[in-house]
Amino acid sequence: MDRIWLIIAVILLTAMTVLPASSEETDEGPARKLINSQGCKACHALEGDGGTVADSFEEIRANFSRAEIRLKLVNRSGKHGNSSIPDFSHLSQEELEALVNFIQPES
Ligand code: HEC
Repeated sequence: MDRIWLIIAVILLTAMTVLPASSEETDEGPARKLINSQGCKACHALEGDGGTVADSFEEIRANFSRAEIRLKLVNRSGKHGNSSIPDFSHLSQEELEALVNFIQPES
C-alpha cells in the first residue's frame, strides 16, 4: 500500500520539473493575469485599456530597459509609482520575471 505514495510522489516531482521548462513561451499568460490581478491597469494602460496616471506599457517598452523595469517593480525603498504605493516585492521571482519578459522582451 505504501508504494502508491511513492508513485504519486514520483509523478508529482516529474511534473514539477518538466512543466516549467518552456517559461519563455508561457510568460505572456501569467504576465497578463498579474497585470490584471495586481491592479496595474488602474494607472498604466495596456493595448489602450487602463489608466493614464502613468505611462502605458507600450511607452514603457519603448523607453525602459529590463533592468530599469525590474528596479521599478522591486526597490530598496519598497515603493512604486512616485512613492505612492508599495512596490511589488510580494511577488515571486517567477512572477517578476514573467512581468519583465512581457513588458520588455528585448534589451
Ligand atoms: C497607483 C498607480 C500605479 C499602479 C497600480 C502601478 N503603477 Fe507602475 N508606475 C506608476 C507611476 C506613477 C510610475 C512612475 C511614472 C513616472 O515616473 O513618470 C510608475 C512606473 C512604472 C514603471 C517604470 C516606467 C516609468 O514610466 O517610470 C514600470 C515598469 C511600472 N510602473 C510597471 C507597473 C506594473 C507592472 C504594475 C503592476 C504590477 C504597476 N506598475 C502598477 C503608477 C502605478
